[in-house]
This record gives sequence, C-alpha cells and structure tokens, in this order.
Amino acid sequence: MVKVNPHYAEVSENYMFLDVVKRARAFTEKNPGVKILKLAIGNTTEPLVPSVVAAMHASVDKLAARESYTGYGDEQGNTDLRQAVATWYGARGVTLDASEVFISDGAKPDCANIVSIFSDESIVAIQDPVYPVYRDANTIGGRRIVYMAATEANGFVPALPSEHADIIFLCSPNNPTGAVMTREQLQAFVDYALANKSVIIFDAAYSEYIRDANIPRSIYEIPRAVECAIEIQSFSKAAGFTGVRLGWTIVPQALATEDAAAGALNKYWHRRQSTMFNGASNIAQEGGLAALSPQGQKETHEQVDYYMENARVIREGLTKAGFTVFGGESAPYIWLKCPAGLSSWQFFDQILEKAHVVTTPGSGFGGNGEGYMRVSAFGHREDIEEAVRSIAANLKAV
Ligand SMILES: Cc1ncc(COP(=O)(O)O)c(C=O)c1O
Repeated sequence: MVKVNPHYAEVSENYMFLDVVKRARAFTEKNPGVKILKLAIGNTTEPLVPSVVAAMHASVDKLAARESYTGYGDEQGNTDLRQAVATWYGARGVTLDASEVFISDGAKPDCANIVSIFSDESIVAIQDPVYPVYRDANTIGGRRIVYMAATEANGFVPALPSEHADIIFLCSPNNPTGAVMTREQLQAFVDYALANKSVIIFDAAYSEYIRDANIPRSIYEIPRAVECAIEIQSFSKAAGFTGVRLGWTIVPQALATEDAAAGALNKYWHRRQSTMFNGASNIAQEGGLAALSPQGQKETHEQVDYYMENARVIREGLTKAGFTVFGGESAPYIWLKCPAGLSSWQFFDQILEKAHVVTTPGSGFGGNGEGYMRVSAFGHREDIEEAVRSIAANLKAV
C-alpha cells in the first residue's frame, strides 16, 4: 500500500500568503466597494524595462522563423547568459567561471531543491524569522532543522548555530526583516562553515537593493567562500521577472565537503538539473541577458530605486506616526513592530479593518516574527503613499 510523505503533516496546510489573501477576501466580501491597498506579498508591480521588452520581443520573432527557431537550450542554461552572469560578478570583484553558473526558472525552486545534492541526514540551520521556503522544504524533506534566532537584540542578524549544522541558509538583504549582514558577520559564518565542514546556501535575491557600499552583495566577496558556499540569485526583484521566471545558482568548482572533492558538487547539481529540470524559457533567458547588459543594468537599477523610494516613504511615514520600524534601508521590506503588545494577526486585522491595508503577519515567518508585521515596498507610489497616510491616520502607534 502506498503511503504519503508523513512530513506534509508537519507543515501548515497552506503556504502562508494564502491565509493573508483569504482574510483580505473575507473583508472585501463584508465591505463591498472599500478599496484595499496591498503591502503584503513581495510581488513586483512596475513594467519590464525597455531593453528587456525589446530582447524578449526579438526572441519571440526568432522562434517564429524556421531559420532561427530553437528548441531545448543548453543544459546549464544559455551559454551567453552564463558568461554574462560570470562577467556581472567580475564587475563586483568576484571571479567565477561560466561552468559554475546554473540558470534556473527562479530562486525559489533552487532554494528548495539544492539540498537534494546533500545527504538526507544533514542538519539544516535556518533563521527565525525566515523566508518560509527554506523551513517548509526541509521539513517536507524530513531533515532536522536548527533555528538561529534573529531578534531586535541582535539587530535581526543571527548568531552562529548553537549546535552543529551541516547546511546553513542565509538571506541578506533579508526577507522578512529587511536586515543586512555586514562583511564581518558573513565572515564569521564562512569561518564556521570552513571549520565545521558545513555548506552555506546564500540567498542573494535582494542584492540589488543594498544601498550601503560596505555591505557585501555576494557571499563570494568573503575570502574562501567559494570553498563552502552556494549562492542563489533571482531576476525577480532585480528586474521585475516575478512572472517571467528566471534566476541562477552558483555551485563553485572549489566547493568541497568531507566526502566530495572539489568539483563533485558542481557535477551533482548538473546531474540533478539535467535530469529533473529542462531549462528556463529561452524567451526569459534572452530577457535576462538584456537585463545584465549595460543599458539593462541602468534601467533595472532605476526600477529598484523606485521601489527603494517606496521603502523610504513607508519607513519615514510610519516612524513619523510614532511606530517602531526596522529594515527598509537596503531592502524592500520594512519590519514593523506591533504596538501595545498586539500579536501579528491582531495587528493585521486592525490595519485591515481600520486602514484598509493588507500587510503580512510576522508570525507566519517563525516564532520570532510574532509581534511584528512585514510591510512590502513593492507597489505603485500613489498606493504606497495612500497606505502610509491611512495607517498613520487610523491606527494608534502605542
Ligand atoms: C528571499 C527570497 N528568495 C527567493 C525568492 C523567490 O525568487 P524567485 O521569484 O526567483 O523564485 C523570494 C521571493 O519573494 C525571496 O523573498
């Protein structure tokens, strides 16, 4: 008799955001005609930049003609795109070879799938609060999880794992807290990984939101990180590809573990991807190539600036209204402390009912997120301004 994976019983029934959507929908049904402003899900709202649009149109045209039509692409992704990714890192002082770049259809699947190249016995360290994918994917995979607390006391950057961890997930700039890790803090994790023969999975999906020049945008800015770290990147937030779907994962040739010599893990991930993934859309990859071009970088950086201005509006508006906020300075997320000891869901309901704004309860990201809300800077400027005005006018900050 077939049996289901028992670990599904250990995760909540829905991916967190569904509960947020359900409550917002229930409010709309009870209050028809009331406009709701959404500062909840980290979903991009501004159109693709012109150079990406042109490249994707051209890509469709190529597919429309017999002479230029292409089917399945190169196994690790478009060769030009992989080279462009390596060059992009090179401009940041990080030397990588195109053979270390694996193009994907986004960071989320890679965050979940990458652990498959390691033993199921691996102990996984993740932050609390955390981007739920690391927690839920490893729970479903039946792995033991060790939590690293990210609290107001440590500036939302966790200390090293308190017990041995084989795989360590880090995310900077952080979703949900908006905190960033300094060079010294990252160095401490790299030192830990080298000393304990652990591997860091570094999620750099928000690297382009970093405004402080001293904050590393890649884990590979830390010496010897290529020996102990995998980096996962995304075009979603950097170039508005949330619906287009494109990302990459770096598995360095130098990465080694106790039982795998340098090069072996790169081969395993190649084997995994070429067996269980058939490549990202060729249209998306042409768009990604354009996004990494000098003109594409200029245009996408302007778009990121737009979202970061939204973040400033939220941060300063809420602070002026008397709320305590964190993050939002090198990240598109503001971590808002619930006033008067309210729980995340209690404050969620108040913000929804009194200000007609949807935010994300911090408790959905882990126990240490209780008492906080995540406010997303992804949205049209006018909606962001209206939402901040409404919260300030309709809610008590103490
Ligand atoms: C930290 C982090 N990593 C990865 C992702 C997902 O990226 P992608 O759209 O490339 O799957 C998100 C999306 O919100 C995220 O917040």
